[in-house]
Amino acid sequence: MKKLIISPSILSLDYSKTSEQLKELANSKAEWVHFDVMDGHFVPNLTFGPDMLKGFKKVLPQVMDVHIMVEDAKKYADVFIDAGADVLTFHSEALQNDLSAICDLCVHIRSRGVLAGVSVRPKTSVEPLLQHLDQIDVLLIMSVEPGFGGQAFMEDMLEKVRRAREVIEQNGYSTRIEIDGGINDKTAVLARNAGCDTLVAGSYVFKQDIQSAVESLLCQ
Ligand code: DX5
Ligand code: ZN
Repeated sequence: MKKLIISPSILSLDYSKTSEQLKELANSKAEWVHFDVMDGHFVPNLTFGPDMLKGFKKVLPQVMDVHIMVEDAKKYADVFIDAGADVLTFHSEALQNDLSAICDLCVHIRSRGVLAGVSVRPKTSVEPLLQHLDQIDVLLIMSVEPGFGGQAFMEDMLEKVRRAREVIEQNGYSTRIEIDGGINDKTAVLARNAGCDTLVAGSYVFKQDIQSAVESLLCQ
């Protein structure tokens, strides 16, 4: 299994303390920063545009882990790659779970020098994607319904993680398994034991001291 990476989700940043919190985040042991893009259609919430990613990128040394929860995944993959994404994760459901369209978009994202990620909502099976993990750099398992931070972890999503870990180990794939939603010091242990190597955490990290919260997720 790969080295554990923590990807704090800046959806949970306290925007009244933006510069202070970004400095703390920049100096933390988080290697990635998770940037949630929502369009108000694919999910019932609106968040960031590409100019905000450009701004964050100027002050953060981390890998920009961009998760697009939008209907027009093809268009916005390019928009956010142009703005500086290092990892670009789109939703399987945005492409109607069409495997050939999903693989084509992954090929395109990789051709732009960016890691290609595919995410599944809680109700979407991960099984069809498992035969195509050679094309996917990051498999993002949602452990809450996408749209909002601060929701409770859905423990039954760990079965998807176990299956993906099994297929990755059997085939020697280098795909990362990232989990997103409801991660704290307790659920992080469950996620790691099931086979996750990349943990997104929003409210847990930003509602306390950022650097010690990141360390607590690394030291479980
Ligand atoms: C939810 C987002 C998550 C969210 C996680 O749609 O994709 O990245 O920020 O927040 P917490 O860790 O608070 O569940
Ligand atoms: Zn996310």
